[in-house]
Amino acid sequence: MSVGKTLALIFSALFIGMQLIPVERTNPESDPSLEIEAPAEVKAIFERSCYDCHSNETRWPWYSNIAPAKWFIARDVKVGRQWLNFSEWEKYDEAKKEKLKAMIFKAVGLAMPLGTYVKMHKEAQLSRKDRDTIRAWTGISPEEIMNNPKRYLY
Ligand code: HEC
Repeated sequence: MSVGKTLALIFSALFIGMQLIPVERTNPESDPSLEIEAPAEVKAIFERSCYDCHSNETRWPWYSNIAPAKWFIARDVKVGRQWLNFSEWEKYDEAKKEKLKAMIFKAVGLAMPLGTYVKMHKEAQLSRKDRDTIRAWTGISPEEIMNNPKRYLY
């Protein structure tokens, strides 16, 4: 057998083998009363741009069935939900909500939604107006931001 054919066989076997590694991709059940209560325009932005990783209502794309993509996607969803889960927001206490609001204020300035995700989901990109809407919802005052710029701005 030629070197080319041997390599092709090895890579096919590896690719098939990768597919057999199990990855958890679930949308856990959660009490609907725990979902975030926010004005409709705010919630709509979260649903469009954040829910795939920060809720229990992930829309798993077709390529999330295929390794290696599925490993990265499953990891982003798992870690994303651990940080912030809009489906379970109302079970956070006030202190945690305030802390998360501060993190959201900052994250929408640059980090979120993740760039790799936006490449595949152009509609998730936040407009300036989306950003302003979310930031206004956090209720964080301009004085607070001026006094702690590192906490809120990149
Ligand atoms: C593709 C998945 C994905 C999407 C979409 C996404 N996030 Fe995240 N988010 C993550 C992951 C993964 C982390 C964990 C930290 C990290 O890996 O950077 C995270 C962390 C966070 C954090 C806490 C840590 C930090 O970096 O500030 C906040 C706040 C956050 N995301 C807000 C949002 C908001 C708001 C949106 C929508 C505008 C959003 N995310 C969209 C995956 C995502």
